[in-house]
Amino acid sequence: MPKRVRTAVFPVAGLGTRFLPATKALPKEMLTVVDRPLIQYAVDEAREAGIEHFVFVTGRNKGVIEDHFDRQFELETTLEVRGKTAALSELRKDLPSAGRTSFTRQQEPLGLGHAVWCARDIVGDNPFALLLPDMLFKGEPGVLRQMMDAYEEAGGNIIAVEEVPEQEVSSYGVIARGEGPDTGFRLTGMVEKPKREAAPSNLIISGRYILQPQIFNLLANQTRGAGGEIQLTDAMQTLMHNQDFTGVKYKGRSFDCGAKIGFLTANVVYALDREDIREGFIKELRKLDLGEHF
Ligand code: UTP
Repeated sequence: MPKRVRTAVFPVAGLGTRFLPATKALPKEMLTVVDRPLIQYAVDEAREAGIEHFVFVTGRNKGVIEDHFDRQFELETTLEVRGKTAALSELRKDLPSAGRTSFTRQQEPLGLGHAVWCARDIVGDNPFALLLPDMLFKGEPGVLRQMMDAYEEAGGNIIAVEEVPEQEVSSYGVIARGEGPDTGFRLTGMVEKPKREAAPSNLIISGRYILQPQIFNLLANQTRGAGGEIQLTDAMQTLMHNQDFTGVKYKGRSFDCGAKIGFLTANVVYALDREDIREGFIKELRKLDLGEHF
């Protein structure tokens, strides 16, 4: 049995330049899809997968994320006095239990690899899940849960992948697929932002990982890669020389909410999926007479 994954790391120290000016003062991870911040969806997904400790790598301007996972006594008292019990229990249900969150700082946004490295002392010598909260996944069960199933079989490192059209591969980290089914196949290589002709497949690394702690040693010595940033993919490539990596082509779909189109699409899809909103939302959309745009 591989060692249990109890901890998840959420890197939230990026600058969110693709979403300015919204992200000038507001952390991108607090942008809401319908009525929940992106970070809450990621925490819920981790909790569903059995994660017990939530580690946030934050930066300047990100204090509000810490507040979001704290109790808000004035608000709770007011809701209680007004008898709004449903809203109150919803708020309480979202909170990780006391002592189950940790916050550390990445003082400079030097890249995802560097952000992950900042969590090394809190994670210690344990496997951990890594969730990029600006990637929102709609899956049943959640994508991290699907990955945990693969991990319980194979151990090692697990990466969630998805298919994209071939002409788009050069924007992503791309993997080479070996033997095995979609629920867990051998991953034989990976490359960051390859030219279309050089891409080993059209399967991209999509923002959910289970990693072994040896990645931290590699990140400590990792030189800057693409975009002058310390790249997680570069360190994973080295780790692949002596550890197994398994790919999971997850069931579900993703929304890149760090970019405007992905974020807007997610809002529409999640709103249409909500029983309390769907009907009213469709009514308003009909009034817009969107037909001419399609
Ligand atoms: P992104 O590249 O999507 O985030 O990183 P970004 O840099 O904030 O966005 P743009 O490209 O400027 O719009 C994926 C995740 O990694 C975190 C981000 O917060 C995001 O959740 N990240 C990225 C860090 O925590 N630190 C970094 O140095 C870079």
